[in-house]
Amino acid sequence: MEIIKTVTEMQAYADQKRAEGRILGLVPTMGGLHEGHLSLVKLAKEEADHVTVTIFVNPTQFGPNEDYETYPRGLERDCRLLETIGGVSAVFAPDEASFYPGGADQQRVWVVCPEMSKYLCGKDRPGHFRGVLTVVLKLFAACKPHVSVFGLKDIQQYILLKRMIHDLSLNIRIVGGSIVREPSGLAFSSRNENLSSNERSQAQVLSKAVIAAADMIELGEKSLERLTALMMNTIQSASLAKLQYAEIVDANTLHPVEKLIPGARVIAAVAVYFGDVRLIDNAIADVPVE
Ligand code: PAF
Repeated sequence: MEIIKTVTEMQAYADQKRAEGRILGLVPTMGGLHEGHLSLVKLAKEEADHVTVTIFVNPTQFGPNEDYETYPRGLERDCRLLETIGGVSAVFAPDEASFYPGGADQQRVWVVCPEMSKYLCGKDRPGHFRGVLTVVLKLFAACKPHVSVFGLKDIQQYILLKRMIHDLSLNIRIVGGSIVREPSGLAFSSRNENLSSNERSQAQVLSKAVIAAADMIELGEKSLERLTALMMNTIQSASLAKLQYAEIVDANTLHPVEKLIPGARVIAAVAVYFGDVRLIDNAIADVPVE
């Protein structure tokens, strides 16, 4: 497994693999690798014959009071884990100076999608999706993938990236990997590492809330008030949880739905703080056709 540190080296490496006729798969991550990431690597191996994992904690997607400094980091451990599972050809782990020439504060060109960024996490994290879309476009330019895999736990990110690929006519296929959960139902997340053991055991309320709401929708519940109350009450049953949002949104546009229309696909989504740790979860539901 090659460890590549600069954009120029990564581009040369990708060009060489493309010239050899390889199908390049990419798994962008910020490190702190866990079972969820490993399932994305597995998916990438099925889609491509040459897989690169990127490990870069992107400063431009964190707000001034967010957890950039405390975000879990451990390149050596992450690389060991990837070596153990095998099948990863390269790790692209640039430093900030190589990735954002002159530093992230010198970045003047951004990818934005204001309409779809204003819902869910975008309401509480202004600038977050601008940072995500821009860094992923830069990762695509460095790694030149044919196919790129992203986790569906970050479903708003996935939908926005799909839209970026479509609107900018990027010749890249995007694949979404299902959410991987611990036995308690808690979705794997790098941020789980920063939870205390009490917080961690209470954090299962996120999955309980979204899965219960999605099940109710698929069983025919039509009242958005009842569904939202179900999610809020489930979250609030955890004494350490601070609810940020609990919403049902359209799965294509991310607009909060006003009515559950038969045949529509919707997402039940929550964001919750435990101390300083912000967790998100979601479940997709198809509104039954009467
Ligand atoms: O999902 C993540 O880990 C990050 O948002 C991503 C896509 C690697 C961009 O920094």
